Amino acid sequence: MQLFLDTTDTAVLKDLASTGLVDGVTTNPTLIAKSGRPMLEVIAEICDLVEGPVSAEVAATDVDGMLKEGAKLAAIATNVVVKLPLTREGLIATAEFAVQGIATNVTLCFSAAQALLAAKAGATYISPFIGRLDDYGMDGMDLIREIRAIYDTYEFDTEILAASIRNPAHVTAAALSGADCATIPPGVFLDLFKHPLTEKGLEQFMSDWAKTGQSIL
Ligand code: E4P
Repeated sequence: MQLFLDTTDTAVLKDLASTGLVDGVTTNPTLIAKSGRPMLEVIAEICDLVEGPVSAEVAATDVDGMLKEGAKLAAIATNVVVKLPLTREGLIATAEFAVQGIATNVTLCFSAAQALLAAKAGATYISPFIGRLDDYGMDGMDLIREIRAIYDTYEFDTEILAASIRNPAHVTAAALSGADCATIPPGVFLDLFKHPLTEKGLEQFMSDWAKTGQSIL
């Protein structure tokens, strides 16, 4: 399973990428706004920091605008994935990018029927929004399972990118439900390393080791 960071914070990205565990990055207009920086500059910097896929989202909502913006974003670096909303226009643009060999991430997916359409349009990634579905009183993980079943039945290559992840349990559940990737906010990514019993156990081991007076080196 691939783990992406959902961020435009390049300092945080640099730090976490040093673990060797970050396979890619996703961004969205809200995250770009939060960065307070020009989008093209931020995306270029992120692409320099990670070799894996970097999703950059179009701001246009019409097909022609999406195609123009997507082409500009894709020209930033070879690892840019053009992110498009799951609308009729977004899927028309997705199909055109598929013909051109440009990778796409279809975002704001909230139903299996939408995911089926995205796969038929030739999307590289589909992004079901788990946390937002949970907030809405539904079970986001059911959606991942439904999409997995449909994609497996019809042998679609589109990868399931679990998005809108709110906690480590979402990451585990997405993995168990058959997501190919998850995009994770930095705070949740850091929490994945932690467990109270790991901390307690390490403290005990270090304390007992100190009593031996030994040194390995
Ligand atoms: C994914 O591509 C989105 O950028 C992101 O996961 C949305 O998460 P949110 O619901 O926490 O805004």
